[in-house]
Amino acid sequence: MKIKKAVIPVAGKGTRFLPATKQIPKEMIPILDRPMIHYCVEEAVLSGIDEIVFVTSTGKEAIENYFDRNIELENFLEKNGKIELLDKISKIGQMIEVVTVRQKEQLGLGHAVLCAKSVVGQDDFAVILGDDIVINDIPVTKQLVDCHEKHGGSVIGVMQVPKNETYRYGIVKGTTVSDRTLKMDGMVEKPKPENAPTNLATPGRYILKNEIFSALERIERGAGGEYQLTDAINMLCSESQVFAHEFHGKRYDTGSLEGYLRATVDFALARDDLRATMQEILKNGKGHQ
Ligand code: G1P
Repeated sequence: MKIKKAVIPVAGKGTRFLPATKQIPKEMIPILDRPMIHYCVEEAVLSGIDEIVFVTSTGKEAIENYFDRNIELENFLEKNGKIELLDKISKIGQMIEVVTVRQKEQLGLGHAVLCAKSVVGQDDFAVILGDDIVINDIPVTKQLVDCHEKHGGSVIGVMQVPKNETYRYGIVKGTTVSDRTLKMDGMVEKPKPENAPTNLATPGRYILKNEIFSALERIERGAGGEYQLTDAINMLCSESQVFAHEFHGKRYDTGSLEGYLRATVDFALARDDLRATMQEILKNGKGHQ
């Protein structure tokens, strides 16, 4: 069964970006001229996904509006001969089907994913967390889809982190089955370095078999008093096959100001129209006088 749906939880309050997020969803904060969420949805589209399920909360309407068409703006751009912009804007509105479900209380990532159950139906699906952007020629979700097609089962994207950073992530353990792929025995949510079974961390990319919903319905509150996706994945490890795949790509933690800044600089350096300006800024360290 092809992976065609992606669940993107966007209900969080974005406290690390206050005061900007007082009125704007953090997912709509731009890196250069695109909101952060654009990069994640683009990754999904390029990975063969054709429907996004946003798990939202109050105040997040701007996200679904962004992926809708804005006929008034399109007409305005057309009338003013701004054809290149018109093309860009209308493509965003036609990029993908979007469905939203509400997470009425923020009870954790596991709870957020469970909120998507009625829309996902019987399908297996991807989960993409918007706080991480991974840049690679083959998008990270596509790499996980390929691994899922090869091995079957659920597939969790992992990357190596320094031991002293394990407390920030779900950390997996398992046995190597092929290049960059482990058959997982389990995972631990945000362990201290001395308790971390490996240094393989999950930065928010998952392909999940539909059975995850049954596990999510059975877990109890875990770390931080929240319903953790990690605990449901742990349950799946003993009931079915779960793999961890070490993906290729450069990852930015855009949920933090530091990662956001790094992404902004790198993305500008990657663009023909902005590279020279960014190089000059980095060299001279100042703006125009
Ligand atoms: C969540 C997950 C964690 C994962 C992380 C990636 O934690 O619970 O396993 O490693 O996302 O960003 P959060 O950052 O939402 O606390």
